Amino acid sequence: MEMGTISAAYIASAILFILSLAGLSNQETSRKGNWYGIIGMVIAIVATILNKSVDAYGWLIIAMVIGGGIGARLAARVEMTQMPEMVAILHSFVGMAAVLVGFASFFDPALDLYGAAATIHNVEVYLGILIGAVTFTGSVVAFGKLSGKMGSKPLLLPMRHQLNLGLLGLSILLGWWFLSVGHDGGTLPLIIMTLLAFAFGVHMVMAIGGADMPVVISMLNSYSGWAAAATGFMLSNDLLIVVGALVGSSGAILSYIMCRAMNRNFVSVIMGGFGTTTGGGEEEGEQGEAVAIQADEVAQLMTDASKVVIVPGYGMAVANAQHAVSDLTKQLRDKGIDVQFAIHPVAGRMPGHMNVLLAEANVPYDIVLEMDEINDDLGEVDVVVVIGANDIVNPAALENPNSPIAGMPVLEVWNAKTVIVSKRSMATGYAGVENPLFFKENTRMLFGDAKDSVDAIKSSI
Ligand code: TAP
Repeated sequence: MEMGTISAAYIASAILFILSLAGLSNQETSRKGNWYGIIGMVIAIVATILNKSVDAYGWLIIAMVIGGGIGARLAARVEMTQMPEMVAILHSFVGMAAVLVGFASFFDPALDLYGAAATIHNVEVYLGILIGAVTFTGSVVAFGKLSGKMGSKPLLLPMRHQLNLGLLGLSILLGWWFLSVGHDGGTLPLIIMTLLAFAFGVHMVMAIGGADMPVVISMLNSYSGWAAAATGFMLSNDLLIVVGALVGSSGAILSYIMCRAMNRNFVSVIMGGFGTTTGGGEEEGEQGEAVAIQADEVAQLMTDASKVVIVPGYGMAVANAQHAVSDLTKQLRDKGIDVQFAIHPVAGRMPGHMNVLLAEANVPYDIVLEMDEINDDLGEVDVVVVIGANDIVNPAALENPNSPIAGMPVLEVWNAKTVIVSKRSMATGYAGVENPLFFKENTRMLFGDAKDSVDAIKSSI
């Protein structure tokens, strides 16, 4: 394929990726956005493979069959609740790819650069490997934490801030050494920096507490984009630069949104340690008693209500209860009851998790409201039903300054007349914090798997 045709194909792909992002920002256009992304990626891959400088077709086909086969198998098998950890491990691949391309590009004998061009290339290699290595190990640790293979508690080494600063200073010094010796003696500083960056990625994510994981996911998403952009510079591939910049900047914007949703400052998230203080005076004995309720009583309360709000959380995803919840909503709306959904920005385990589940179950978009849109109106609601949510409705975030989640905005469901909490036990949520909501006077606990409970309410109605 001629270079002109390849450039045209790359421009078409870049436009499709931008349209894809625009489409994905809204539930009604998200399917179309997904298709734009798929078509853009197919065009990008075909144009790259047909580039004149590519000739190892045998290797390419073997790699694509193995990689594509594993990817398709994993994607078909993955549960919705495992999506966040899958996204985390996919980010690690981008990071590792940047490291490998960086070394390959550094050792490439065909690359004959001098003067400023050589320095620029070396800077690209150094930064690409640095960002890629941090992304790789950071994402692997994030995968471990999200999948429960590692504890979500932050690891707080003594003098950890000094350690991070030391690693940063060493990376700058090694960068200076690498650039001053150039190609001839650059292997040693490059390898030392890579090992340090691997260690930094592990330490950075290990130090971040459970409740800050949403920010970590979006931050690693952003890093993977910058790693891809750096790879694009090394390979002189304009499309990879554009795509990397799109992913990098959208991930950075998402990190900002997540920080705002949790009332956190980005720098303090990165410094780690959030979620280490234990809530003062929060022992279960002091909380009073939780009052249980049965499904038929909940059905009665709901049918007597004129306004019902449903708050979905991670447990709804675990129980796969979204279709039952959608049917229940339809039943209630057919009876003339006003039903709305309240979505917390960090509900579930990935950004937009609840919106995806509700869209999959055909819940009308116009009754699904964001936290900021509905929080002030919860006082006028007759019944709030919390389905498998915990941290996002925890009043301790507002009432207890010693709570590990103090300051995080939450859905103030306790202002409603009655609150029903559907969950299996009195266990804590992701942040591992006790929830005083369960012991409030107007709260009733509906114990059991969320899908079984919603099915039972539906049959009673
Ligand atoms: P959580 O606080 O994790 O609470 C979920 C609750 O669901 C648990 O307390 C659990 O209680 C219940 N549950 C589990 N399986 C259930 C089932 N089959 N049926 C009924 N209930 C079930 O969830 P949340 O309120 O959605 O809050 C999200 C948390 O995850 C926040 O702390 C957030 O920071 C964190 N997080 C979010 C993200 C993103 S990006 N959204 C990423 C990583 C972490 P039982 O065991 O008693 O049933």
